[in-house]
Amino acid sequence: LLKQNERESLFIVLNFAKTYFAELLTNHDEGQSIGLSYFRERGFTTPTIQAFELGYSLNSWDGLLQEAERRGYSRDLLEKAGLILNKTDDGGSKRDRVFDRFRGRVMFPIHNVSGRVIAFGARILVNDKNQPKYLNSPETEVYHKSAVLYGIYQAKQTIRQEDVCYLTEGYTDVISLHQAGIKNVVASSGTSLTIEQIRLIGRFTQNVTILYDGDAAGIKAALRGLDMVLEEGLNVSIVTFPDGEDPDSYVRRVGAEAFKAYIKSHTSDFIRFKTDVLLRDAGDNPFKRAEVIGEVVSSIIRIPDALQRQVFFRTTAAQLRVDEQTLISEGNRLMRKQQ
Ligand code: GTP
Ligand code: MN
Ligand code: MN
Ligand code: MN
Ligand code: MN
Repeated sequence: LLKQNERESLFIVLNFAKTYFAELLTNHDEGQSIGLSYFRERGFTTPTIQAFELGYSLNSWDGLLQEAERRGYSRDLLEKAGLILNKTDDGGSKRDRVFDRFRGRVMFPIHNVSGRVIAFGARILVNDKNQPKYLNSPETEVYHKSAVLYGIYQAKQTIRQEDVCYLTEGYTDVISLHQAGIKNVVASSGTSLTIEQIRLIGRFTQNVTILYDGDAAGIKAALRGLDMVLEEGLNVSIVTFPDGEDPDSYVRRVGAEAFKAYIKSHTSDFIRFKTDVLLRDAGDNPFKRAEVIGEVVSSIIRIPDALQRQVFFRTTAAQLRVDEQTLISEGNRLMRKQQ
């Protein structure tokens, strides 16, 4: 019961913070001239800003802390919510220094499936090598990063309707696609995909299409952790974007209709994609090409459905220009080894 009360208190103070940041964005001089104009430059409209409850944190040490204390929230609660930091000053005075975690950043509230704010992502306005681009809430009693997908609350209904979930890397990918009318989209927020995130998607659809950034890191991230998705029985497809683009920049450049057409014509099932990427890396080296066979087969055997596995053995054999039977034998060998 105590834990339940504590969680409830955290939800309440996080909701207060969300409202506080949102009001600064729209009603405060600094928020308007810095935060709101930043979002406007990125093309975010007012309904979009409202749908995602975006905000702004003042460039001051304790703007939130002061307002929260005025309203009777304890420092202890603010700290447990990840909103303030408490550091002992070792620079002689040994006094405690308490200050806001988020300062001078645009704020992206992170909602759970039922729409309650559980954490924040916060972006600096001007990229700077000495500061992280995004600063996130720490793990708290209500925020378990590995179980969260950004945008799931805004996306879940459309994910069900369309029976597919688009998975992106970043906050702004989710927001820009939503604004373009593609609302069945969530983000893993830069972390590699976890089993909890996959099961969360699985509550709404069995179909996932990955839209990762078109750079080497994005492709690596897409390959990583995806065997896990196959194991959960989800159907995984992937779309890659031109190098240097992400879904946000791409949809803003080409518009919603061209974006949808691009997705349609560039969707590849995950096994085909993985085979392509590995083959490209292997080049003409026969040893490496043999390794590719093992790698791809090890993904195929994760698929729980036997019929699907059979189809993938056939199409992959053609792609690798080897015998289908060779792949199946290798698959059987690997499966026996695992048992
Ligand atoms: P914009 O530059 O605002 O368009 O962000 P982006 O989403 O395109 O960023 P990027 O592709 O570099 O990273 C994808 C996601 O990883 C972000 O949305 C964040 O969730 C996360 N991320 C990026 N940089 C950082 C960082 O410095 N610290 C943390 N904790 N997360 C980050
Ligand atoms: Mn917990
Ligand atoms: Mn990237
Ligand atoms: Mn981006
Ligand atoms: Mn990106």
